[in-house]
Amino acid sequence: QKTALTAEDIRAMKGRTPIVSLTAYTTPMAQLMDEHCDFVLVGDSVGMVLHGLPSTLGVTMEMMILHGAAVARGLKRAMMVIDMPFGSYEQSPAQAFANAARLMAETGAAAVKLEGGVEMADTIRFLVKRGIPVMAHIGLTPQSINTLGGYKVQGRDAAAKPLIADARAVAEAGAFAVVLEKVPASLADQVTEIVDIPTIGIGASAGCDGQVLVVDDMLGFFGAFKPKFVKRYAELGPAAEEAIADYASEVRARLFPSAEHTFADHAPQKAPQQD
Ligand code: KIV
Ligand code: NA
Repeated sequence: QKTALTAEDIRAMKGRTPIVSLTAYTTPMAQLMDEHCDFVLVGDSVGMVLHGLPSTLGVTMEMMILHGAAVARGLKRAMMVIDMPFGSYEQSPAQAFANAARLMAETGAAAVKLEGGVEMADTIRFLVKRGIPVMAHIGLTPQSINTLGGYKVQGRDAAAKPLIADARAVAEAGAFAVVLEKVPASLADQVTEIVDIPTIGIGASAGCDGQVLVVDDMLGFFGAFKPKFVKRYAELGPAAEEAIADYASEVRARLFPSAEHTFADHAPQKAPQQD
């Protein structure tokens, strides 16, 4: 039996082979990606994708723990990384440590991810020195939507330098990888060359050391909006709605359930009884 990949394994993939990742929030989805992804991210996108929240700001520790524990039950090989929700780490390194330790203890995650660059470097260093692998997340950081003023491309023009400074700061602080969200492709390539930890792109560049997408986005389940950086590898949302519509019309026409899906008075003689 294969053992799960570690933060060190992910870090060592830089310059060797592209790192593959998707988000997951449930056991069955985690099972589907375990053999195909190097790490699975329990993203705080769960709030928007599965709970109908308007942003990630309302996501709680309890939601992350519930979904994280479910994902962990579906993984054997892939590493599990879990997002720290808004408000659980920004106040102080001590606050971050307490909540990161709780997330890991109660879910089995092997690392946490948190948003922020230069301003979070001290916190990242504090966690890493105390045994918690940290994945950083810079560029578009959705928990800062209210100060960023929208989900726009980050790091263009004069904003390139600060983004590079963020990448250097988190790498220097000991992060084992850094997510680059919604930044120009050439800047993502530049950052990938500058830092010695893997860059994980989402809306960044194929030149990043790895890629991550929100699974419901790439499967076509989440239709509320579709960022340019999402490629739809399937259209499962429309397929699911078609199935639901078929079921509804068969129920209304009394076509479902048919004999195949109902039970006779007496058990059949030969075939083993099925419930
Ligand atoms: O929450 C999330 O899904 C994420 C990825 C988009 C990187 O943070
Ligand atoms: Na996130």
